[in-house]
Amino acid sequence: MKASTCSIAKAIAGKAPLVVVVGQRWAADPLVRELDQRCKGSLVREARRQKFRAEPDTSAVIQTHGAVGAPIIALVPLSADPGAPGLAGLAQNVSDIAAQQNAARVAVRLPEGSSFGDYRVVAEGVAMARYTFEDYRSEPSKSPDLRVVFAIDRAVPAIAEALLQAQARAAAVCLARDLANTPAADLGPAALADRAASLAGGDLVVRCHGPRKLEKLAMGALLAVGQGSRQTPRLIEMVYEPKSAPVGHYTLVGKGITFDSGGLSLKTSASMELMKRDMAGGATVIAAIAAIAEMQLPIRVRTYVPAAENMPDGNAIRPGDVVKACNGKTIEILNTDAEGRLVLADALSHACTEKPRALVNFATLTGAVRHALGKRYAAVMGNDQTLVDAALASAADNGEGLWQLPLVESYRADIESRIADIKNTGAGGAGTIIAGLFLREFVGDTPWAHVDFSSTVMSDGYACHPAGPSGYGVRTAIGLIERLAAASD
Ligand code: BES
Ligand code: MN
Ligand code: ZN
Repeated sequence: MKASTCSIAKAIAGKAPLVVVVGQRWAADPLVRELDQRCKGSLVREARRQKFRAEPDTSAVIQTHGAVGAPIIALVPLSADPGAPGLAGLAQNVSDIAAQQNAARVAVRLPEGSSFGDYRVVAEGVAMARYTFEDYRSEPSKSPDLRVVFAIDRAVPAIAEALLQAQARAAAVCLARDLANTPAADLGPAALADRAASLAGGDLVVRCHGPRKLEKLAMGALLAVGQGSRQTPRLIEMVYEPKSAPVGHYTLVGKGITFDSGGLSLKTSASMELMKRDMAGGATVIAAIAAIAEMQLPIRVRTYVPAAENMPDGNAIRPGDVVKACNGKTIEILNTDAEGRLVLADALSHACTEKPRALVNFATLTGAVRHALGKRYAAVMGNDQTLVDAALASAADNGEGLWQLPLVESYRADIESRIADIKNTGAGGAGTIIAGLFLREFVGDTPWAHVDFSSTVMSDGYACHPAGPSGYGVRTAIGLIERLAAASD
């Protein structure tokens, strides 16, 4: 999807459907009145006949029969819901109208006084709403690529910039969805690394480390998870360091389990069905850094994705085995299905050796988070409240549900091992918190936050999130880095 601007006169004369976003007093809107005059009163008359009352999720679609260039005029209400959620509903509405008209272009007039951010959110929302995944259909659907043209009084550079950012951010969300949608047979650790490598260019450098390098780095936990699969593990490293950026970098880490069978602690058939998406945390950070590089933000960012396939096999790790992570800590593996925290242990420890200003990981780590928070909220935990607060604020900016869980000190006893430094599962419930406490062992005193989004990784179909992998976290991650960089100025 492409987004641009044009004059209001051009939008009226143009051949694209014209969407006019209106407030409660819609009939008094100057543009509605002008259009109504040109349509000899039929715009307001027809909207009233359709019982249009500017209520959320309703719209009126009026044929212009050649009275103006636009074949139809759609009146769409501005949601009473302020901020990102309301604008997402509006964006979904615009996308639905374009789809109904089978339009390749749609003109949109946002209300007077809309901020640059509003333009960005609407453009990005329309692109996110249009997402489809056709790679595996014998006959891909032929819906035209949509161009959204915002009708504004005069060209404003800040709006053009906001639209470029919207395109980069939405493309990143769609990339994360594509990666989570791709079957595990076609997206093992090496293929995921190749996809990341294909994003390199400009100031974005990508390095992929295979088993030999992982041995050298002493990443015993990542290697252990990967050893039951015929596909060897990778550590995918992406570095975006524009020369002009201030010193100090931020690191994002994402869980990259390309398929989670559970290993010898085998999952049930039902719980395994969607486990190709267990690399969604990795997809989140790969897509986020790609967008940051595309927008050329003056911030130094690194990402690490520990990628492995968790399979049962003669060579697989067994419950009771002890492995050593690259920071020297030993881990007793009691449940091979708690593999995400193992691969993250190595990636987080390694990231800390480079002393980032902040370290944030995204992972589909525990099924328990779904029980705690349901399907629209993910959990965040961390050892630095300022960082957790920034993550919560960024999620709110982007209309993504995020809620803090406490790292309860007394629960730490649950992962004491009788023979090693720590064990990988507890027995006392609070599985999401236990996993957070486990990860905390591998970050030392680096400011760190952990987002467990097993709950939100799939959408059941809501505004700008067609059913399927949601792309959750990509925009929160980008916004979080921007916030952190702005706060350190
Ligand atoms: N990848 C799963 C978590 C998950 C569950 C993601 C459902 C998306 C939907 C993770 O590796 C896992 O298996 N976690 C176990 C941990 C347990 C063995 C301590 C779980 O949540 O059951
Ligand atoms: Mn698992
Ligand atoms: Zn997993």
